Amino acid sequence: MIRIAAAGDVHFDRKSHNRFSQHFHNLKDKADFLLLAGDLTQTGHPEEMKVLANDLRKCPIPMIAVLGNHDYHVDQVEQVTQILTDVGVTVLEGSSIILNVGHYKVGVAGAKGFGGGFVGASGSDFGEPEMKSFMRHSKNHARHLENVIKEMEADYKIVLLHYSPTAQTLVGEKKEIYPFLGSYYLAEAIDYGKADIAFHGHAHGGVERGETPGGCPVRNVAQPVIRHAYNIYTLQRTHKNLIQEESALSLES
Ligand SMILES: [Fe+2]
Ligand SMILES: [Fe+2]
Repeated sequence: MIRIAAAGDVHFDRKSHNRFSQHFHNLKDKADFLLLAGDLTQTGHPEEMKVLANDLRKCPIPMIAVLGNHDYHVDQVEQVTQILTDVGVTVLEGSSIILNVGHYKVGVAGAKGFGGGFVGASGSDFGEPEMKSFMRHSKNHARHLENVIKEMEADYKIVLLHYSPTAQTLVGEKKEIYPFLGSYYLAEAIDYGKADIAFHGHAHGGVERGETPGGCPVRNVAQPVIRHAYNIYTLQRTHKNLIQEESALSLES
């Protein structure tokens, strides 16, 4: 059984000291690892990330993160990544990590993702160079992620994103902004890569549960959606190639 604690969009600022330190500190017997689905800060300023890093410092289980669009805003990506790395967080961007959980190898492939929209309501790789560049960036980013997922040799394959791979978890957001909340290219990467479950954030006004067209469970763990410090998801392979999510236990924040 694999126990995953997951949260996104904590949006720490310079005044967020100790907002979650107690919750992260208490994870030891509750989960095997913690996933952070981006938008960890308000603007991506290193001083904001230092506040979060201080809360994460005492987390007793492996921590894996992707950055979100907010973490890119002031162009300090290298610095904020290093601040997380210094307290033991593995920051993924088009890359993966394999964890040993009991007898299982658990692969986590992570990337921020990007926008573009969903089938029937997406941008297209056509016309002005700016539009082609936008869509090609989204597509290339997802194709790379697909390869990263495929190359993981693991009993469980988990995908960690900031942007959403499905419109199903965006319900509640304005439809006009769906193309800025995610991309169907990400769902293709998840399905072709044969991932078992995917987590994302970014859609504060969306819903928690959805799935890709290929049937992979997708969970929007943005904190405004889950309304707790994190959720815990328990995965168990019940028989060949079937993953069952046994429970989603919410903890008070
Ligand atoms: Fe956010
Ligand atoms: Fe975001």
